[in-house]
Amino acid sequence: MSDELKDKHGTTGHEWDGIEELNTPLPRWWLWTFYATIVWGVIYTIAYPAWPLISQATPGFLGFSTRAQVEQDINAVAESNAAINEQLATADLTAITSDPQLNQYAVSSGGAVFRTWCAQCHGSGAAGAKGYPNLLDDDWLWGGDMEAIHYTITHGIRNEEDPEARYSEMPAFGRDELLDDTQIDQVVNYVMSLSGEARTPSRVEAGAQVFADNCAACHGENATGDRDQGAPDLTDAIWLYGGDHESLTETVVNARFGVMPSWSGRLTQAQIRAVSAYVHQLGGGE
Ligand code: HEC
Ligand code: HEC
Repeated sequence: MSDELKDKHGTTGHEWDGIEELNTPLPRWWLWTFYATIVWGVIYTIAYPAWPLISQATPGFLGFSTRAQVEQDINAVAESNAAINEQLATADLTAITSDPQLNQYAVSSGGAVFRTWCAQCHGSGAAGAKGYPNLLDDDWLWGGDMEAIHYTITHGIRNEEDPEARYSEMPAFGRDELLDDTQIDQVVNYVMSLSGEARTPSRVEAGAQVFADNCAACHGENATGDRDQGAPDLTDAIWLYGGDHESLTETVVNARFGVMPSWSGRLTQAQIRAVSAYVHQLGGGE
């Protein structure tokens, strides 16, 4: 132990086996830094939101709030997009896709709308799932040009909230006893034969007759579908509800009734047009 230090500051009086504890004071620079942090801490908790109270923290005299800051940022973006949103909301639907700048804006902001409002049903990549159509292909139930897509999104499909929703209803041929089991098996085999192999080929011919009598009015004589009624093309091997014998039988026995909400009350016109442009360019826009 340095005797010089011991002489200068003395010891604390503690001693173990001849080892004494020096009473050297903390370095000045350290001490002042320490005091400075205390002062800083006090000022900070007065200036900024800090002390938890019952329903919120003390606000701080600078009035800083992360929530307000986010709101400000959002308002700033909304303000800077106001002009182009206005243009988007009022342009001719077909003019959107032919104006590169407007289209680019619509597609990128429409992508954000899609991920927020549509992905739960149609999938984040818009590839769909059973009962929820794939929006990436060029197979459309109700139509794939800007106007048809815009109408579908604006009003939705078979929902009860919007009187202008797209509507059609396939009869439940089995449940309502419009066809017997044999006829259903026949027509299912016929439908299977249209895009692949029938399970029981001997029933296809009779099934064609059942189809002509009961199904052609909606699905078309050639079974290629009818967009006015949202009746799917049954020849393209693209299935909304499944193309195997079991799924098809279920479809014919109980029918299907896919519902999509109306968006006119939830999204702005600019948002609806943006997401329409987004869906339109995904792959199958017409
Ligand atoms: C609650 C589920 C649900 C949500 C959310 C939803 N959809 Fe749909 N959508 C459906 C269903 C189900 C259908 C198919 C209805 C049918 O069978 O005709 C459909 C059909 C469509 C079609 C028609 C496709 C065609 O082939 O004609 C478009 C376009 C579409 N949706 C776009 C959107 C967009 C854009 C959004 C978000 C703003 C959205 N959907 C949100 C369930 C949903
Ligand atoms: C009144 C019109 C109408 C009639 C008649 C009708 N359908 Fe449909 N069918 C539809 C509509 C609309 C849908 C789509 C339902 C949905 O998307 O929820 C559909 C869907 C289907 C599907 C599902 C396709 C897929 O992609 O999964 C099959 C299969 C089908 N119909 C077969 C038939 C057969 C077979 C008959 C005759 C026995 C028939 N339909 C009669 C309107 C009709």
